[in-house]
Amino acid sequence: MIIRTKNSSQLTEADVTPEKIYKARRHFMAQSGMGLSALALGLPGLAQANALSYSKTAYGKGETLTPEDVVTSYNNFYELGTGKDDPVKNAHQLKTDNWEIEIAGEAEKTGTFPLAELVKQQQIEERIYRLRCVEAWSMVIPWVGFSLADMLKQFKPTSKAKYVEFTSIMDTKNLSGQRNRFSTIDWPYVEGLRMDEAMHSLSFMATGLYGKTLPNQNGAPIRLVVPWKYGFKSIKSIVKIRFTDQQPKTTWNLLAPNEYGFFANVNPTVDHPRWSQGSERRLPTSFFNVRRMKTQMFNGYEEVASLYKGMDLQKFY
Ligand code: MTE
Repeated sequence: MIIRTKNSSQLTEADVTPEKIYKARRHFMAQSGMGLSALALGLPGLAQANALSYSKTAYGKGETLTPEDVVTSYNNFYELGTGKDDPVKNAHQLKTDNWEIEIAGEAEKTGTFPLAELVKQQQIEERIYRLRCVEAWSMVIPWVGFSLADMLKQFKPTSKAKYVEFTSIMDTKNLSGQRNRFSTIDWPYVEGLRMDEAMHSLSFMATGLYGKTLPNQNGAPIRLVVPWKYGFKSIKSIVKIRFTDQQPKTTWNLLAPNEYGFFANVNPTVDHPRWSQGSERRLPTSFFNVRRMKTQMFNGYEEVASLYKGMDLQKFY
């Protein structure tokens, strides 16, 4: 994402330089003699130390995966800095021990639950999804996690629950991005879905990727993945889930409503005010191989189209 600063009106999506991937990759290689996820979690062992057990699924079968080192070193996680290589460098700032999630609002079962308890009840599986960032780059990521609907159902949302609001960790002491006085974000990071979107079978909670525990820079220990929406909806490091009858006030929508809508469905016919959304660069790109491809409606996940029947998606972008 590009924060609107004094000079940002001149920025285009080309400012998100692909070369940064290679810089970040070199940084990772230099830092790490061990597996990246082990490094990010501060574990002394090798990556196998946090290998997960999960079942494979047909989601994304046949897609060419974005290399793991790109997925884990080219990130957007503003709590850990605004540069693409800041999150991996600052990953240690995110403290994930004894993680709890507060469940609040319009549901029969509310309260604060240890993450381990919530995950224990879920069917853990791998799903390969395309991730399309609003900045017009994309990746293909093998996530490990479980269905969001399965998780939400156990709290028995009431008929008043029209939306689900998600909140990320707030930790100004440790997260340097939340202390940055130039940051225009009103922390914590908040995202939301309409109830029917949240209950759609594609909506996913990830606790891992590439068969390993989720690295901090990718939103450990648990993050949302909504593959038909721009990446900013896929909120990281979730500490609170609230059922509500009001549309949640979400971070990027509050910051620049004309640039980032609440729905944020991937839509090649609705351009960002400063760049086209008609195409995307599939990472990793290089000077000689830009890997530009056409962006597909709903990022190619046409099965969600019925959720928006009768809605003007030019207006509700
Ligand atoms: N969640 C939080 N809490 N903070 C962020 O800055 N960035 C979003 C999203 N979730 C962000 C976040 C954006 S803009 C994108 S594109 C994706 O995370 C990137 O996920 P990745 O770094 O795992 O590829």
